[in-house]
Amino acid sequence: MLNVERVREDFPQLKAGIIYFDNAASSLTPKTVIDKMLEYYVEYRSNIERGVYSLSQRASEEYEDARRTLAKFIGAKNPDEIVFVKNTTEGINIVAHGLTFNRGDKIVTTLLEHHSNLLPWMRCKQRYGVRVEMVKPSGEGLLDPAEFEKAVDDKTKLVAVTHVSNVLGTVTPVREIAQIAHEHGALLLVDGAQAAPHLEVDVRRLDCDFYALSGHKMCGPTGSGVLYIKEEVSEALEPLYVGGGTVEYVDLEGFRLLRGPERFEAGTPAIGEVIGLKAAAQYLISLGRRNIEAHERELSRMVYEGLSSLKGVEVYGPSPEFKLGVTSFNLAGLNPHDLASILDLKAGIAVRSGMHCAQPLVRQVLGKPEGTVRLSLYVYNTAEEVEIFLSTMRELVREIA
Ligand SMILES: Cc1ncc(COP(=O)(O)O)c(C=O)c1O
Repeated sequence: MLNVERVREDFPQLKAGIIYFDNAASSLTPKTVIDKMLEYYVEYRSNIERGVYSLSQRASEEYEDARRTLAKFIGAKNPDEIVFVKNTTEGINIVAHGLTFNRGDKIVTTLLEHHSNLLPWMRCKQRYGVRVEMVKPSGEGLLDPAEFEKAVDDKTKLVAVTHVSNVLGTVTPVREIAQIAHEHGALLLVDGAQAAPHLEVDVRRLDCDFYALSGHKMCGPTGSGVLYIKEEVSEALEPLYVGGGTVEYVDLEGFRLLRGPERFEAGTPAIGEVIGLKAAAQYLISLGRRNIEAHERELSRMVYEGLSSLKGVEVYGPSPEFKLGVTSFNLAGLNPHDLASILDLKAGIAVRSGMHCAQPLVRQVLGKPEGTVRLSLYVYNTAEEVEIFLSTMRELVREIA
């Protein structure tokens, strides 16, 4: 079980007394991550994979150790399957640019997606004439594998789904979808931005071909992220950039790219950030991902039950057993942005408001053209914070009535 009071001591940002419920946008950073990045900048700041001198050797070793740690973090078979990117969006775009699409091919995605797992596929439609089919979730935001059975056919080249919804917290049945995709010879990309920070992810069990995550949502630095590329499909992907660090041999006739993850990491990478991301992954492993999930589920239930009992509050999405720690809601008579501002002014509560970069979901599935307020939890949030939030909401409901 998690000792939350102990965990809170690791996060210097909490000393300001804020109630931070915008974790789906970005998490806070523990001291161990800040210290690790500082260590790089103070002790062995240099470029990697280039120098034979000890400073560069140390930086290179730390960087490659980050690859091993992140492979362990998501259950990859081989560290070479880990490509460092700046965020989930970049990871997904590398796949969208790197696969070969022909007119008539099909991409299947869903109406649950963040724009980062939607726009790259819509652009493939404009550029290559592929068909993009969107699987619709239920009104509560749950995806049914039977809908994928109908949508995926032998022309389908790629299925792209989120692992966890950033608006509703619902968890996608990835394994079932992987089976359907592979039966038709399609590849599966999973957007893990909202899952990797909160769940024990095992890409081998999920059987996906690509998995993208962002470091800044999982206690790591901004500018760090991972694109997992299954070893067997790596050759099918053309790197987005070529240049320094990606090549094995060059002469005036041409060049031969490296075979490993370096072929996707052109130029000097975000070395300090990747080293910080390693510390973040180690930190989450040390807390125990099952403990993190259990803690968030418990608080999520409190949020859901508390909000559902309030007059005039509409809570979107399914009941707590079908989701993680993200809850979207509205209070009748208040615009979501006004409600978010009031929560901040009254009690220093940070929540997100608006469309959450998921306009088709919020507008078409939830039917909320003004958006919603979104409360998203993490490992350092407490039952007391949820209580303060709920009592602030109760007060507001009384004032509005
Ligand atoms: C589900 C999902 N996918 C992708 C992203 C994009 O993440 P990033 O901005 O780190 O690229 C987000 C960010 O909120 C997200 O929630």
